[in-house]
Parts: sequence; structure tokens; C-alpha cells
Amino acid sequence: MRERTRNIVWLGMLLTIVLGAACRNGMRDGARTKPLESTQFFADGRSARPLVDGTVARGYAMVSDEEEYLRTGKIKGQLGNQMPFPLTRQVLERGQDRFTIFCTPCHDHLGNGQGMIVQRGLARPPSYHIDRLRQAPLGHFVDVMTNGFGAMYPYAYRIAPRDRWAIAAYIRVLQLSQGTTVADVPEDQLSKLEEMEE
Ligand code: HEC
Repeated sequence: MRERTRNIVWLGMLLTIVLGAACRNGMRDGARTKPLESTQFFADGRSARPLVDGTVARGYAMVSDEEEYLRTGKIKGQLGNQMPFPLTRQVLERGQDRFTIFCTPCHDHLGNGQGMIVQRGLARPPSYHIDRLRQAPLGHFVDVMTNGFGAMYPYAYRIAPRDRWAIAAYIRVLQLSQGTTVADVPEDQLSKLEEMEE
């Protein structure tokens, strides 16, 4: 009985090796075509299949300066400091929403660079409140999101261009909020501030 069990184990191992090898050969020797090679298999003679109707090509064509600015934060390679569309409260709220989702894990809710991932050991990003980033044009933030920056990976495929601008505008809000004194509060808003203190 022992002998039989051992034989079954051996057979199992042998089968694994033989079948495993067969699989590898199948991948290596199976019929396939090289890119752009012709074939008799399809009626049009091409091995590459045309795109399915209604599918969207990846990448994009920069058709105009406006398009380039919206997508990269740059016009003819120069970083800009203007929003490419009107800035409204709604845009800022959208920016806050996206910033909270995508950026706070590392940059934290105030932009000090002390997010939870950083507290768990990732390299600490610079605070948004250092002079260099306070003075950086708005387009710089869009550029960082579009292309990544040093250890930070790009967000172009996760955050649409308009949302990148909304986030950049919200970063400006954070920068203002951290460098503001009571003297900067408009007079008609002062009473609200006093209410909050009470
Ligand atoms: C996984 C962590 C992580 C996330 C999430 C993240 N960042 Fe960063 N970010 C970094 C790190 C790390 C650096 C510093 C990179 C370096 O200097 O090598 C950085 C740097 C920056 C800088 C400074 C660039 C400079 O000029 O020094 C900006 C601006 C920035 N991030 C914006 C964002 C925005 C906006 C988001 C959300 C869309 C975001 N980051 C999400 C980790 C992150």
C-alpha cells in the first residue's frame, strides 16, 4: 500500500513536469504573427485588427494653445498663472473634494506634507506653505499633477484636466488660509468670525 502511494506521488510529479513543459512550448511555438505581418486568416489580409467602432484612442492631440494649457499648465512650454476657465465657488468645492481624495493621504488636509502615508514612512513632501511654492505659478501645480514630480507619480490618467485645475486653485486657498491674518478678513465677514469664536 505504501509503495502504491509513493508511485502515485511520483506519477503526479512527472505529470506536473511534462504538462508544465508542454505549456511552455505551446506559448513559444504556437502560431502567432509579428506586428504588421500579413495573414490569410482574415479577409482583409491584415493580422492586426482595426479598432472597434466607438472605442476611444489613448493619448490626445494638442490642437490649440488653449488645449495645451488646460492639459499641461503650460503655453508654448511656459507655466501660466491664470485659470483656463472661470473660477467659481463650485470649482473650489470640486477642488477640495478631489484634493481630499487624491492628495491628503500624503500632503494632509492643510498641505503641510504630514499625511497618513508619510506618518507611516514615505518620504515627506514639501509643505505647500514654503515660499517657493507660495510663489509658484498655478500652472506648476497642474504640471506636477500631470507629469509627477521626483518621487511623486503622475495623476494625469486619474484626474481629468479640469479637476487638476480645480485642485490647483484649492491649493491656493490652502496657501492663503495658512498665511492670513484677521486684517485680511473683509469687514462684512468679521462678525461671522466673532460668532465662531464665541
Ligand atoms: C503617495 C504620496 C503622494 C500623493 C498621494 C501626492 N503626492 Fe504630491 N508629493 C509627494 C512627494 C513624496 C513629493 C516630493 C517629491 C520630490 O521632491 O521628490 C510631492 C511633491 C508635491 C508638490 C511639490 C512640487 C515641488 O515643486 O516641490 C506638489 C505641488 C504636489 N506634490 C502636489 C500634489 C497634488 C496636487 C496631489 C494630489 C493630486 C499629490 N501631490 C498627491 C507625494 C505625494
